Amino acid sequence: MLKKLSEKKVRAALETVLHPKTGKSIVSSGAISDVTISDGMVNITMQIDQGTAGIMDGVRKKCDEAVAKLSGVKSVRTVMTAHSGKTGQDKPSRPMPATPPAPPAPKPIPGIKHILAIASGKGGVGKSTTSINLAASFSKLGLKIGIMDCDIYGPSVQRMLGNDGGKPDFTSNDMIKPVERHGMKAMSMGYLIPEGRATVWRGPMVIGAVQQLLNGVAWTDDGDLDILIVDLPPGTGDAQLTLVQTVPLSGVVIVSTPQDIALIDARKAYDMFSKTSTPVLGMIENMSMFICPKCGERSDIFGHGGARETAKEKGIPFLGEIPLHMDIRTHADEGTPIVLTAPDSPHAEAYLSIAKSLMAKMPD
Ligand SMILES: Nc1ncnc2c1ncn2[C@@H]1O[C@H](COP(=O)(O)OP(=O)(O)OP(=O)(O)O)[C@@H](O)[C@H]1O
Ligand SMILES: [Mg+2]
Repeated sequence: MLKKLSEKKVRAALETVLHPKTGKSIVSSGAISDVTISDGMVNITMQIDQGTAGIMDGVRKKCDEAVAKLSGVKSVRTVMTAHSGKTGQDKPSRPMPATPPAPPAPKPIPGIKHILAIASGKGGVGKSTTSINLAASFSKLGLKIGIMDCDIYGPSVQRMLGNDGGKPDFTSNDMIKPVERHGMKAMSMGYLIPEGRATVWRGPMVIGAVQQLLNGVAWTDDGDLDILIVDLPPGTGDAQLTLVQTVPLSGVVIVSTPQDIALIDARKAYDMFSKTSTPVLGMIENMSMFICPKCGERSDIFGHGGARETAKEKGIPFLGEIPLHMDIRTHADEGTPIVLTAPDSPHAEAYLSIAKSLMAKMPD
């Protein structure tokens, strides 16, 4: 009887592959950061130092070969994730320069006209919901759209756009093929890692993952994109910084609820994007009000108007208000943005009107 394929067996097979730098196995050298197995398909993530992709490519092939020999393996794919430098106890062999070298200038992705990021300071204010509904609005307006989920630890796009359960494919030159959802291209860690599995990665690996989602995905193989929407995680950390340092953004939109605690963080997000010379195209107030479906009474659960005031204070456009409404949540949970499923609803119209004003603000 065939014994079940397991992560332990995959790691044992990888023990036979040596790391060229340490001379020890690739596993005991700590380079294998993740192994996932789904229906005989094995995905391995190998952490490498920046600038060593050439040497490590041979190791990557050896990993594929070693694991392919295991019984029950239908396919195996080792992906390299760049590590920005030495960590741990290793001492640098030379003194660190007083000022770190400037990162290379951001490079556009050929075939993508605009990259638009959706940000907030605080978590849970509705960035992902706004991202998918703005994407759907742009798509309805006739634009070719891609959506990149830049939230490595807590991806949502695979949920909010739906997941047919298939695993992403690779092109002949090892680029990840984006999935096709509602006529748009999408990619998220949520399509690559099984649901419920935590991404336990240090900052440098997040940097590598964001770079790979931008430049390692075949966004334009089936034709150019007008806009790539990037759904950011909360905060002003590695993901945000990597994004602005890797590609030039046409702009960023800041989403906030009207609550002070969210607005404080929204100002921090504004500050970070201003410091990195990213155009802030405006602010959206999400969960702006609630109308009781039973009695029609309006309640300002998180307050009202705070984002409009903050936009005024910062001298940036206020783009619009989206109410707190159950249908917005349920359609997103079902993987079908409300803009597409209830196109005549006032909520769909609110998103569409924001999309139109953003189109006018993006450079030609
Ligand atoms: N306008 C709205 N009306 C009703 N529910 C909403 C609305 N906007 C967002 N939600 C719901 O609120 C929750 C948080 O929204 P969402 O995931 O979009 O926030 P986020 O800012 O992307 O969160 P995170 O910081 O975790 O990435 C979700 O359950 C979503 O369905
Ligand atoms: Mg989100």
